[in-house]
Amino acid sequence: MSYETLEIEDRDAARIVRINRPKALNALNQTVVAELSRVLEALTEQIHAGDTSVRGLILTGAGDKAFVAGADIAAMRDMDPDQAMRFASQGHAVGEMLANLQIPAIAAVNGFALGGGCELAMACDFIIASEKAKFGQPEVKLAVIPGFGGTQRLTRRVGLARAIELCVTGEMIRADEALRIGLANRVVAPDQLLDTCLGIVAAVAKMGPLAVAAAKRVLHQGAELPLEAANQLEIEAFAGLFASADQREGMQAFLDKREPTFTGK
Ligand code: CAA
Repeated sequence: MSYETLEIEDRDAARIVRINRPKALNALNQTVVAELSRVLEALTEQIHAGDTSVRGLILTGAGDKAFVAGADIAAMRDMDPDQAMRFASQGHAVGEMLANLQIPAIAAVNGFALGGGCELAMACDFIIASEKAKFGQPEVKLAVIPGFGGTQRLTRRVGLARAIELCVTGEMIRADEALRIGLANRVVAPDQLLDTCLGIVAAVAKMGPLAVAAAKRVLHQGAELPLEAANQLEIEAFAGLFASADQREGMQAFLDKREPTFTGK
């Protein structure tokens, strides 16, 4: 499959997706959003078909200046409310696909992650940021609000009060502040960003694929449920894994003092 705005690379167990519109600081127009949907659909199908070769998605921006500087302002300027509704829905659909993916999705934030860029990073399971990264929800400067999940995901990441402050001032924050408030999991030197993310995927690749998928699902779904229902979800997922060959293999390998060989079954 070829893409106009994305570069796809498989390295070890990682699928690296680079958004590549450097002249517009990788801004998200409809083509980028549609291509992100296609790439995630293809990966979801590949995993559903039992292919366990890709164990983590790394989403990043091409070049050294921007992850994504937002939704494309030139493309949005003349939208009417119906068009804006469709655009926001397409952006949200990408977020849902990232959350539903059975492998972790890591945002490798290499520069500006503003507006839709910050939202796309937050739609990934976690963010690893370069020291040069800058985050913000500056939509109010354009007299709109975040439309790709920013108001909701930012609140869940950093709490309501900090999210309101960021969304109403449009303030841009540096990577160290993003780390401090829990928006980014780690901050690393720019030349260490990709290797750090590849290292995380390599660590995940040693684990049981069904267990990784179950952990991600239960964590995401449970976060939206009352504790009792969330705990029930965990009990069912935990028990369900005991029907897998990988559970026997993982536990037998421990008892045999050898490395397990997981098959995703
Ligand atoms: N959309 C379209 N083009 C963009 C863009 C965007 N979001 N961000 C940057 N660009 C373009 C600029 O227009 C410029 O193009 P030209 O060279 O053709 O003039 C090029 O990228 C380089 O940008 P700058 O010259 O502005 O670079 P800078 O280093 O001076 O500033 C910046 C960098 C602070 C990121 C600045 O570009 C900026 O503020 N960008 C807009 C950020 C923004 O408002 N994002 C939110 C968009 S709204 C949104 O995302 C809605 C939503 O939630 C779905």
